[in-house]
Amino acid sequence: MSATNCKVRVLAQDTVAPDIRRLTVAWGEQRPEFAPHAGQFFMLRAWGAAETPVLSRPISIHEVRGPEGALVFLYQVKGEGTQKLAALRPGDILSLTGPCGNGFDAAAAAAKGRVAVVGGGIGVAPLLQLCKELAAAGRKPELYVGFRDEPYALEAFLPYCAAISVATDSGAAGYHGLVTGILHPEEFDLVLTCGPNVMMQGVYKLCAEKGVPCLASLERKMACGLGACLGCTCHTKVGPKTVCQDGPVFPAEEVFDLG
Ligand code: FES
Repeated sequence: MSATNCKVRVLAQDTVAPDIRRLTVAWGEQRPEFAPHAGQFFMLRAWGAAETPVLSRPISIHEVRGPEGALVFLYQVKGEGTQKLAALRPGDILSLTGPCGNGFDAAAAAAKGRVAVVGGGIGVAPLLQLCKELAAAGRKPELYVGFRDEPYALEAFLPYCAAISVATDSGAAGYHGLVTGILHPEEFDLVLTCGPNVMMQGVYKLCAEKGVPCLASLERKMACGLGACLGCTCHTKVGPKTVCQDGPVFPAEEVFDLG
């Protein structure tokens, strides 16, 4: 894995929903080994080394706009670090370390056949770039997304998806219930998912029942993001693995149980 450390300039900060922001930064032309892809993330820091929070914030890549263009992050404001990120304005400078992690292999996924992409809440963040890369590989996926209440950020997915199906806990839009209530894995050759653990566990269970392979992108608290501190280690069926370096994308059967 190749990760770079760099300072980047904020191009835009948009409010997408009350606690959801979209941060766009100038990424510029980078060496090919630093070309980010879907499912990878960056460690973001917009405060000094001596300031709190101590740790940088891992944020997944929402979209890469052209090789020399911009990096877009979609994130939820829910603590001191993300509040400081949300205070950034165009022209401000922040530090990035990354791209980190293994991400999704969209070309390999596209080669499998029909692909469903399943997201929940802010877990939709890495799925835009994923759908984009799948579409570029000739395989527009079907997107299934679950939200508690009003959906957000879905318009950007339209050009890259064959269909979009929405479920909401509140019934504010789409199917009234869990996203697993509208997913039929047997219609697909591969399911890719990112969202709350309980949702991904449910998605995995449905897939396992139908014998459909499933890849899941995990979220963990991270200190270094580079495989050095072992703070994000998770216990998989093939031994301990770091979510930041071995993941965040894993075969679902390695990290979830059927129970
Ligand atoms: Fe340090 Fe993953 S965050 S090893």
